[in-house]
Amino acid sequence: MTQRVWMRGNGGRSTRGFGIVGAGVISLTHADAIASLPAARLVAVTDVEPARAKSLAASHDCAAEPDLDALLARDDVDVVSVCVPSGLHAEVGVRAAAAGKHLVIEKPVDVSLRAADRLIAAARAAGVVLTVISQHRFDQGLIELRRLLAAGQLGRLVLGEASTKWYRSQGYYDSAAWRGTWALDGGSLMNQGIHYLDLLLWTMGPVAEVTALFSTQTHQIEVEDAALALLRFASGAVGTLVASTAVFPGFAQRLEISGTGGTVVIEDGEIIRRELSAARAETGSPDGSATPRGSARSAAAATPAGLEIASHAAQISDLLDAIDEGRAPAVTGEDGRAALEIVCAVYESARDGRTVRLPAVPHRSDNQRGSS
Ligand SMILES: NC(=O)c1ccc[n+]([C@@H]2O[C@H](COP(=O)([O-])OP(=O)(O)OC[C@H]3O[C@@H](n4cnc5c(N)ncnc54)[C@H](O)[C@@H]3O)[C@@H](O)[C@H]2O)c1
Repeated sequence: MTQRVWMRGNGGRSTRGFGIVGAGVISLTHADAIASLPAARLVAVTDVEPARAKSLAASHDCAAEPDLDALLARDDVDVVSVCVPSGLHAEVGVRAAAAGKHLVIEKPVDVSLRAADRLIAAARAAGVVLTVISQHRFDQGLIELRRLLAAGQLGRLVLGEASTKWYRSQGYYDSAAWRGTWALDGGSLMNQGIHYLDLLLWTMGPVAEVTALFSTQTHQIEVEDAALALLRFASGAVGTLVASTAVFPGFAQRLEISGTGGTVVIEDGEIIRRELSAARAETGSPDGSATPRGSARSAAAATPAGLEIASHAAQISDLLDAIDEGRAPAVTGEDGRAALEIVCAVYESARDGRTVRLPAVPHRSDNQRGSS
């Protein structure tokens, strides 16, 4: 192996080479996010469908490698973005970790806890940094909510609600064989709802108990297109979780956090309402709360390609800082696992018609039907 050469010129920061595995819908967001960062450079992509890799390589001026081994053999690839179907994240990530590459894993970390544990263990054994994408943690409204929580402005948390009421057509599920399958995808909670589920966990803390229902009503798919859960948090607070891809035409993702000190409501990453009792006491009026934004909703509510790159770029930048500073990234493999654990518990509760208590025993809570 030749010595890696860090390019300098970003305030002394190393420029790291990226490889993308899986050149489908989300790969463009990664490629654009990487291109937007001075400390990152996309050097190679690969896909089991070579034409897709070639097309992404042509649009982003990098190499198209014939397979994963060829991409991993490159000394100028320091970080691998894993953008393959969800149920293949661990398989690809374990190989990349063994090759000494740092990892950006798309959400969910994988679709079973066993696979997630394999991946986290492989990264730890290889000494590489792993982040699981949860780009909305980097949205402005979430940063502000976390600041308010750290300052104790919401008091003791009482109720937390996360909802993703999106719309996906049958054509979306038919666009790739892995979509809508238990083995490689999972349903509306595993794929779409997991974003705001992660934000709910990030603000409310760990979940102790899950009671759920799910159904498949408007799509020809194995998995659910609507999931509902009641949550009891370890703190004693309670909450709800809603995820669907059957709600036409698709609405803003919503997070509502209430504590003894007030309530903050976020839609699509922005605070749309902030009612804090401390601020009222000071000013005698509602705390300069953000004006409700009306009916604006993100493009992702209706189409999987409607994503902004800024939050992905912020998370990738955090990973680069974590590598440089020898610290854990803002979103760790364990964070990805924690969200997956709730998804698995929702599925288990819905199937068995009973409340699931956490932490679950990994093999009982695997997503796939009939796993034991
Ligand atoms: N963070 C987000 O907002 C967001 C948005 C969309 C998708 N995603 C996630 O990104 C992942 C991919 O989703 P997508 O919509 O881009 O899917 P996609 O089907 O459009 O792309 C997946 C690509 O991976 C390729 N592939 C499959 N197996 C492979 C392998 N073993 N090696 C190399 N390439 C392989 C396929 O040929 C395809 O081109 C999923 O896990 C999904 O949950 C995240």
